[in-house]
Amino acid sequence: MGLRLNLNYEVMTSLCLSVKRDLMFLVMIGPPGAGKGTQAKRLAETLGLSHVSTGEIFRQNISRKTELGLRVKELLEDGILVPDDLTIELVQDQIDQLVNSSGAIFDGFPRNLEQATALEDMLLLHGKGVDLAPLINLSDSTIIERLTGRRTDKDTGKTYHLIYDPPPRNANIEQRSDDKRDTVLRRLDDYHQSTVPMLAYYDERDLLCEIDGEDTIDRVAEALLKVIRGRVFA
Ligand code: AP5
Repeated sequence: MGLRLNLNYEVMTSLCLSVKRDLMFLVMIGPPGAGKGTQAKRLAETLGLSHVSTGEIFRQNISRKTELGLRVKELLEDGILVPDDLTIELVQDQIDQLVNSSGAIFDGFPRNLEQATALEDMLLLHGKGVDLAPLINLSDSTIIERLTGRRTDKDTGKTYHLIYDPPPRNANIEQRSDDKRDTVLRRLDDYHQSTVPMLAYYDERDLLCEIDGEDTIDRVAEALLKVIRGRVFA
């Protein structure tokens, strides 16, 4: 079964890469713990795109104790969204650095309507737009299971799950401070209040495509590549 999945993934990858495009911009949407980061990293590698994760950039700034890191540390620990102006400025910087790349997968951005329209304006300045907005859907109970079991390797930054993607025995792992149950519930609430209303924005533009996030990591990856191939490379 694993072999069949790998072959499908490889065949679809080569079919995607055989079609030349200039720049591609994907927006990965989903509740906390949906697997956005897991899939975005994999897709970025497969398709040669930059992976722009606002959460990851905030966390790197926190661990480097930069001015931005100090400003957002408590917000992230408590699972509270960073103000839009700070987040949009951060993404603007990232887009400015993408000039010579093949495009990007945005992971965790945009998260509300204001951020979605800001992204459209930023890309428009480069004569571009969002090509597709995959939405990874899963139930609240799975989200809690995924996040409470998530661990990150302190040395490599790689994400694991204690049951579904166990870390190597000697890995130096830690739990994210916002993955405690109460904080996860707050983040979920924010998702329903701020991000769900944004979905209509991408749906009206025929860019939204739903992926079943309850499936295994390999199968979700395969479904994503299939939809990208059908919608972006068609
Ligand atoms: P961010 O880092 O973006 O957190 P998030 O959106 O809540 O998403 P997560 O990183 O928690 O989950 P994920 O969907 O990437 O899942 P993962 O692949 O790790 O943001 C953190 C904070 O930064 C925010 O709370 C906010 O404060 C701030 N912030 C960031 N962006 C912002 C913005 N735009 N505006 C304002 N503030 C912002 O997977 C989860 C676990 O499940 C892992 O253990 C993984 O191994 C496992 N797993 C994944 N897929 C599967 C599968 N198919 N089957 C079984 N296990 C799986």
